[in-house]
Amino acid sequence: MKNRRAFLYGATALAGAWMANGLDGVWVDGRSDQAIAATKQNRASSGARSLRERAEAKGLLYGAAVETRGLSETDFADCLARECSILVPENELKWARVRPSQNQFNFAGSDRLAEFASQHQMKFRGHTLVWHGSVPAWLTETATSRNAEELLENHISTVVKRYAGRVHSWDVVNEAVYLGSEGVNGLRNNLWHRLLGPSYIDTAFRTAAAADPNALLVYNDYGLDIDDDEQNARRARVLQLLERLKSDGVPVHALGTQAHLWAGESRFNPTKLRQFLRDVADLGLKILVTELDVVDRNLPRDIARRDRGVADTYRAYLDAALDEPAVIGVLTWGLSDRRTWLTRSRPRRDGAPVRPLPFDSQMRPKPAYEAIAAAFDAAPDR
Ligand code: XIL
Repeated sequence: MKNRRAFLYGATALAGAWMANGLDGVWVDGRSDQAIAATKQNRASSGARSLRERAEAKGLLYGAAVETRGLSETDFADCLARECSILVPENELKWARVRPSQNQFNFAGSDRLAEFASQHQMKFRGHTLVWHGSVPAWLTETATSRNAEELLENHISTVVKRYAGRVHSWDVVNEAVYLGSEGVNGLRNNLWHRLLGPSYIDTAFRTAAAADPNALLVYNDYGLDIDDDEQNARRARVLQLLERLKSDGVPVHALGTQAHLWAGESRFNPTKLRQFLRDVADLGLKILVTELDVVDRNLPRDIARRDRGVADTYRAYLDAALDEPAVIGVLTWGLSDRRTWLTRSRPRRDGAPVRPLPFDSQMRPKPAYEAIAAAFDAAPDR
């Protein structure tokens, strides 16, 4: 890469006309150093402050989940570099990606994202070491109650060590709480629970702590946002799990609350959310909003009204959450409507493209962007 860069710098110096056309030659991760500097300069001279700057002013982090594909799109990568102070791979660190087989680790995607983060002075998060999703077939076929602990420890140790010292935080265990009838004592009966019982959670955190003593170790879960019977019970069960882990000396340092919200939801209760976050903070834990986005399925098709509804949902949630000083950062699950998991998982009934994120598909900031910016500006200092 160094040689290629040197060559291209040379070529660029010779090709004055090329430069004058606004095309420059130093292409790193699909984007050029000069192009990024120019974009930053333009936005800076227009006086607009990025979400990153607004968050930093309050001692907060703002970031997004990204797939490697996004890094090859200049406008997307520029926007990411400008707006975010933390980046998390959307899928590249999940088992099925990192472990194509028992004897193989594939870090190509996650390395690329980590490298991009470091090039742009962004922090890097890991997601996720234990989850019931993204389990490769070989694992289901191979794991037994005799070898499960070793398989789990070996995976966590290898993956965490690779990024040790370069990672802000790890989602060590994702979505372990499950109150449905297939659950066991409010825990999901996933592969690890079936083979090792509930202590797989302790094993995962202890192994991660040994592999990187400096990473913030996070328990991450969904469905902790609104005031209905199901989510009230989920909040209580998550709190109970965190209390149990703390009292057993398990190294858990933070709660990640995913916050996949729905616009048009009338059961949002800011008082209850604040109380829950306070209870978590009282255990000595930090809090990250890890996967924020807003489903627009129940909103009208009209774009102005839809964007307003999504923005209002962001604002109400963040105003309540950021009141809690233990909340140290906010990440959206994606950055632009160009690519979001909600296209497939929560499509609109009228077939219109979903609009859940701060930027539209052309990377223009939406009302949701302004809402997040205003919530950061209004947040108390950390
Ligand atoms: C999702 C990704 O966004 C999709 O691209 C993938 O197909 C499935 O997983 N909660 C989580 C995330 O913790 O890992 C999920 O990500 C979204 C829900």
